[in-house]
Amino acid sequence: MSSQFQRRDFLKASAALAAVNLLPSRVQAASANGVLRTAHIGVGGMGGSDLNSVSSHKQVEVAALCDVDAARLKGASMRHPNAKTFVDYREMITALGDQIDAVVVSTPDHTHAPAAMRAMLAGKPVYCQKPLTHEVFEARQLRKIAEQKKLVTQMGIQVHSSNPYRRAVQMIQSGVIGKVSQVHAWSGKNWGYDGAPPISSSEAPPTLDWDLWLGVTSDRPYMPGHHPGSWRKLIDFGTGTLGDMGVHIFDTPYAALELTAPKWAKTTCRPPTGYGHPERNLVEYEFPGTKHTTDSMSWKWYDGSFAPPKSDELDLPADLKLPSQGSLFVGEGGYMLLPHVSEPVLFPQKKFADYQPPVIDGQNHYHQWVDACLGEGQTSASFSYAGPLTEALLLGVVANRFPDTKLEWDAAALEVTNLPEANKLIKREYRKGFEVENLS
Ligand SMILES: NC(=O)c1ccc[n+]([C@@H]2O[C@H](COP(=O)([O-])OP(=O)(O)OC[C@H]3O[C@@H](n4cnc5c(N)ncnc54)[C@H](O)[C@@H]3O)[C@@H](O)[C@H]2O)c1
Repeated sequence: MSSQFQRRDFLKASAALAAVNLLPSRVQAASANGVLRTAHIGVGGMGGSDLNSVSSHKQVEVAALCDVDAARLKGASMRHPNAKTFVDYREMITALGDQIDAVVVSTPDHTHAPAAMRAMLAGKPVYCQKPLTHEVFEARQLRKIAEQKKLVTQMGIQVHSSNPYRRAVQMIQSGVIGKVSQVHAWSGKNWGYDGAPPISSSEAPPTLDWDLWLGVTSDRPYMPGHHPGSWRKLIDFGTGTLGDMGVHIFDTPYAALELTAPKWAKTTCRPPTGYGHPERNLVEYEFPGTKHTTDSMSWKWYDGSFAPPKSDELDLPADLKLPSQGSLFVGEGGYMLLPHVSEPVLFPQKKFADYQPPVIDGQNHYHQWVDACLGEGQTSASFSYAGPLTEALLLGVVANRFPDTKLEWDAAALEVTNLPEANKLIKREYRKGFEVENLS
C-alpha cells in the first residue's frame, strides 16, 4: 500500500478526531537538507526504545544524547557514535542551540515538564513520554507553550495510533452503542508502594548523577529503590498506576467521547503515607456530557487488586471474563469492551453479530511526529490533546492523597474549589534551576 494512500486514509480517520486536536501543531523544525537532527533526554529504559523508534525514520539523524546515568549513556552512545553526549539537559540545549531540530524526553515523570519546557522555550518540537507531566499545573503550561509557539508535539502514547484504538474511536463516534453514560477502565498492575521509605544510603552508584536525577524535587540523600523504574511508585517522582497505565487506557475513551475537564474526582484508597502511591485505587470522575454521551458521564478507574471490576457489578454476561487491563463503554444500546491492547468487542454479541467494524490502516506514532516536524501531516496526540487528558488523569492522582473526598474541580482556574489544601498538590515547589515557567 503506498504511503500516499496511507496518509490520505489517515487524514480521513483523523477528521473524526479533529475536535480533540484543538490546535494542530505546525511545522517548526527541519534542517536545510530535510533531515531532522534529534536530541534525546533519558536514553535508558523506555528512552532506549524511543531512540530506536525515532531513529528508525530514514530522515532522522541522532545529534545528541543526554542521560544522568553514565552506563546508560554509554550504551546509547555505542549505537550512535556520532551523537554528542551530555549529562545535564540544560547544558545540552544551551550548548547545541541550532545544531538540533527536535527533542525527545524519556525521563522519569518528574523531569518531563522542566526538560520539555526548556526545549520548547528554545523553539524545539518535542516528543514527550507519558504521562505528559507529574503536576496538573505543568500539563497546562506545556500545552500553553506548545500552542503559543505552534510547535509540533506528541505525547508518548503510541497505542493512540494503533489500529484497535483508532477503530474503537470510530465505532463509538459512529454511535454503534448509542450515547455512552459510563466508562469503566482498569489495570491490574500495581505501581504503588504501601511500605515505609527505605533507609537512606549516602553513596549513589558511581555512574549516577543523583543531584541531576532529583532535578525539580528537594535535595535529599541518595535512596535506593528509585532509579531505575521504581520511581513510578513514589509520590515525588511518579504518578502511580493511574498515571502510568491509566494514561494509555484512559486515552481512547477520552478521545472517542471528546471529553473535557472533569467536574470532580474522588479516590477510594488507603490513607496517605507521604511516600508511595497507594497500591490499589478506585477513582471516580464525573465529566460534563458531550455529543457522544448522556447528559453527564461517569468514569471509574480500578487498579491493583481492585482490577478488573466484577462483571456482575457491571451487569455483563456472567461468562464474560474481563482482561487484566482494558476499558468498558456502557452505551444506551450496548457495550464495547476494549482490552488493552486488542480489538474492541461489542455486546450483546447476538445484537452485533452482523456488525462490520471500520477498516483502518496502521500508523507509526513516532514517525508521525518526525513527519510532522518535517512538514508532512500532523500528530494525533499533540499537547493540545495530551495536556487536558493529563490534567484530568492527574486530578485523580491528587485525589488519592485525600481518600473518599470529592475534589470539586474548576479547570479554568486550575483549582480545587472545596478543599484548599488540595491545591498545594496541583503545582510543586521547584528547586532553583529546575523551575517550570508559569505562562500567562
Ligand atoms: N509509552 C510507553 O509505553 C512507556 C513504557 C514505559 C515507560 N514509559 C515512560 O517513559 C519514561 C521513562 O520510564 P522508564 O521505565 O524507562 O524509566 P527508567 O528509570 O528505567 O529510565 C529513565 C531513563 O532516564 C534517565 N534519566 C533520569 N533522569 C534524567 C535526567 N534528569 N536527565 C537525563 N536523563 C535522565 C535515567 O538514567 C534512565 O536512563 C516514563 O515517563 C514512563 O512513564 C512509557
